[in-house]
Amino acid sequence: MQIVDSITAIKAKIKEWRQQQQSIAFVPTMGNLHQGHLSLVEKAHKLADKVVVSIFVNPLQFDEQADLSAYPRTMDADIEQLSSVNCDLLFMPTVQMMYPQGTGRYSTVVVPGMDDKLCGQSRPGHFDGVATVVSKFFNIVQADIAIFGEKDYQQLLLIKKLVLDLNISIEVHGSPTYREQSGLAMSSRNQYLTDIERDNAAVLYQILLDVKKQLEQGQYDFATLQQQAMEKLKLAGFKPEYVEIRRAEDLELATKKDNKLRVLAAAYLGEARLIDNIACYLA
Ligand code: PAJ
Repeated sequence: MQIVDSITAIKAKIKEWRQQQQSIAFVPTMGNLHQGHLSLVEKAHKLADKVVVSIFVNPLQFDEQADLSAYPRTMDADIEQLSSVNCDLLFMPTVQMMYPQGTGRYSTVVVPGMDDKLCGQSRPGHFDGVATVVSKFFNIVQADIAIFGEKDYQQLLLIKKLVLDLNISIEVHGSPTYREQSGLAMSSRNQYLTDIERDNAAVLYQILLDVKKQLEQGQYDFATLQQQAMEKLKLAGFKPEYVEIRRAEDLELATKKDNKLRVLAAAYLGEARLIDNIACYLA
């Protein structure tokens, strides 16, 4: 695996691959990699000849400085893991390289309708930061395909809309959420959980599955299902932010006529803010 830390070097490598007619898949990350990230790299290998991964803890998408400083940086372990799944090129730019004029006065990409609901409501500016950095990466890497996890379903839809709205020439693919055996979705934030909290954390997924089951059984009172799920989370020791049944296609409020739904939740367990979601396609 080749590691590059300059924009000029990655552009040169991409140009070389293009001349050799190689197709390129791109997996952006913030590092502290786990099996969920690696599953994206494995999928990328099935879709293209070469796989590029980026590791960049993007200051623009953090609402609090403390959260940014505390974000786990595990470069050596990340490099080892990426080598084990045959990543071809790892791009690790610095903040100075990505934002040479500082992060204060920067052209920002806003994806309206996708950035202010669900997670966007409690994290103002977060999705603008994501859309901006991903646009920059798309321009730098010039890949054919980009892979994003369904774990961050709102982010996946935001990127799909961004690409469509701005006519960016890249195919965006989603990849299923990789889970612990308990059902807990893998996340860099799980390490903020204590051992006892970790044992309890899979309840979030269980509650989503329970909502899905009730929807499948014909229970269409969305407000009641959401309320009940919130209560169950509280009883299990979570501080829930939301449990929402939404239209899978655009995350708008669902009606009884919609049959492709997504059940999404965000909740604090101790210090960790956990998010999860599942598909619910009704017959
Ligand atoms: P990060 O949280 O590092 O996630 C990188 C990619 O891994 C995202 O597409 C995310 O959805 C995916 N991912 C995380 N956990 C997963 C799991 N358990 N199963 C499957 N995929 C999973 O998301 C970001 O970074 C950033 O916002 C980024 C897109 C890199 C922009 O800075």
